[in-house]
Amino acid sequence: MMILVTGATGNIGSPLVATLAQAGQRVRALVRDPGAVTLPTGVQPVTGDLNQPDSLADALTDVRGVFLLPGYADMPGLLAHIRRAGVQRVVLLSGGSAANADMSNAVSRYMALSESAARESGVPWTFLRPRAFMSNALRWLPQLRTGDLVRVPFAGVAAAAIDPADIAAVAALALTGDGHEGRIYELTGPDSLRPADQIAVLAKVLGRDLRCEGLSDEEARAEMEASMPVEYVDAFFSFYVDGTLDESQVLPTVREVTGHPPRTFEQWAEAHAEAFR
Ligand SMILES: NC(=O)c1ccc[n+]([C@@H]2O[C@H](COP(=O)([O-])OP(=O)(O)OC[C@H]3O[C@@H](n4cnc5c(N)ncnc54)[C@H](OP(=O)(O)O)[C@@H]3O)[C@@H](O)[C@H]2O)c1
Repeated sequence: MMILVTGATGNIGSPLVATLAQAGQRVRALVRDPGAVTLPTGVQPVTGDLNQPDSLADALTDVRGVFLLPGYADMPGLLAHIRRAGVQRVVLLSGGSAANADMSNAVSRYMALSESAARESGVPWTFLRPRAFMSNALRWLPQLRTGDLVRVPFAGVAAAAIDPADIAAVAALALTGDGHEGRIYELTGPDSLRPADQIAVLAKVLGRDLRCEGLSDEEARAEMEASMPVEYVDAFFSFYVDGTLDESQVLPTVREVTGHPPRTFEQWAEAHAEAFR
């Protein structure tokens, strides 16, 4: 029996596939373009589209556990396919805003609807609700390529951002160990940092004289609307300008589940320094 990792090329799926393979698990990686990915030795690629549950028949054959991303077109349909395939546990990636269950907020809504589809599916589940990913700092790459000034939205907002590798570590245990069924893991990193704090850490790691400057709300909105649907921009403004989501609290969950402390932003930046050079 296999473990199926969806989003296998992504921030969490990629370290998750590696962690599971290293632990000797049989792993299948759901990818959309197998030609475009390099997977660890022994990991089986399979194609499928989470927006089309019917495309997942091969992916779900002989699978006992699924790491599932949230927010696809028909989550109840997706979970029904997973249940019919005989899968024994689903570890669903969600987010802190699922707890708000604010159906007027597009991000909260897709997280909450994904969680309720899993709850109602009859498949044993574990929910991961990570705070902001440290890898969101990669969004600053285009600015860092052109200079030392980084202009950011929501400059005053602190978050206990988490290394995706720690989310993957929790996911791997939830997929393979006992005692995780029906658990909701609120996952944070070890420090609550504002963007300027993260940029100061990056400056130290990269040996550069980086500076951080906040975008006005108007500038932030214009920039974000260029790269995502307006309902998501509204959702992030609700979280970070209206203050409907507080991601600043540091929680002990990663240490409790994995037995090791969550990685710091400095550790993340050192591990990814090449991407910034
Ligand atoms: N970023 C944060 O701070 C944060 C915080 C909490 C929760 N989250 C949630 O985490 C999730 C992952 O976010 P991310 O930004 O880190 O993305 P990511 O996992 O790095 O990338 C998305 C992954 O999903 C795959 N994918 C996309 N559409 C697909 C489809 N239709 N069928 C199958 N696979 C598909 C992509 O595969 P391809 O290689 O084929 O494109 C890629 O592997 C999101 O749902 C987000 O809401 C993010």
